[in-house]
Amino acid sequence: MRSLIDIVDFSVEELHELMMTACDIIDNPAKYAEKCKGKKLATLFFEPSTRTRLSFEAAMLELGGTVIGFSEANSSSAAKGESVADTAKVISCYADIIAMRHPKEGAPYVASKNATVPVINAGDGAHCHPTQTLADILTIFREKGRLDNITIGFCGDLKYGRTVHSLISALARYTGIKVVLISPEELKLPGYIKTDVLDKNNMQYEETVSLEDAMPELDVLYMTRIQRERFDDADEYERLKDSYILTVDKLANAKKELSILHPLPRVNEISVAVDKDPRACYFKQVLNGKFMRMALILKLLEEVDVDTKEDAHELVINRIFCKNPKCITTTEQELEHVFKLSDKESGVYRCIYCEEKAKI
Ligand code: NCD
Repeated sequence: MRSLIDIVDFSVEELHELMMTACDIIDNPAKYAEKCKGKKLATLFFEPSTRTRLSFEAAMLELGGTVIGFSEANSSSAAKGESVADTAKVISCYADIIAMRHPKEGAPYVASKNATVPVINAGDGAHCHPTQTLADILTIFREKGRLDNITIGFCGDLKYGRTVHSLISALARYTGIKVVLISPEELKLPGYIKTDVLDKNNMQYEETVSLEDAMPELDVLYMTRIQRERFDDADEYERLKDSYILTVDKLANAKKELSILHPLPRVNEISVAVDKDPRACYFKQVLNGKFMRMALILKLLEEVDVDTKEDAHELVINRIFCKNPKCITTTEQELEHVFKLSDKESGVYRCIYCEEKAKI
């Protein structure tokens, strides 16, 4: 059985296949209106979300299926102390597919190991957000006609912005990608993504604090919100919250064919006046997200009987503990501490749940 926990769970060919299905859904919605008749999606949202949850719900309803679920941890049995593993086993008895969002990194992975139905990661802490990446790649593909040979600027909170982490991992499998990382010093892209994704795939990248300097060379500008909820220090958030505000003036030296993306919600990092610019794609991106989630639900339900191989990477169990305070292992005491060799040359092991480097 397949699940989608990390965007790299799908090959480039599978991503292409999903985009083609989404395009067919856009052109022929009636053909898909009953495809999931009798099927139930459970949306388990342990962290607030409106658009991602509603996007999943709309996707399932437009496929003729139904939806059950909850939208905050307080209204679930987690408030009574139930583990993610037990929740996944229980919900598997009620639903055919699960979409889970959780503040702890690795929680949807734990769910996928315990559920008997496919699990979709709808965002785990600052770690990954693969279905937003599906929306992002379809948007780039529809706007540019390609996913190769693109210079893309990521601007804002690159440290905590999980959508950035997932999109960079996806783009690493395409050719001719140049990444421009635009952020304040304090919110730079985590080191593990630089070494394990950018360096490992020989991707061209540069880091800068200046959006203005980066602007002229960009084909795609991916703006992000400063992720207030992930800051341990409220003063630091206050200091950094207005680091970047994209205005009409700042677009003066941008390419005519630039595409501006944003996973939303926007706080104030894109001024409303930019919405009228034909280069603003973030509302189209929302719609693309729904179509890609429809394509994803179809694919995972079609592949429930497909056998998936266990991770072939070397594993070390319970010799060391994950030091990431946001890892699911910190709250779920019964979980085994499992690490995999992420890089043979450097001998680096990473937590299988949150990808934190093991400190041996
Ligand atoms: C993103 C998320 O949840 O990470 N939003 C979303 O999925 N629509 C981005 C964000 O919250 O800033």
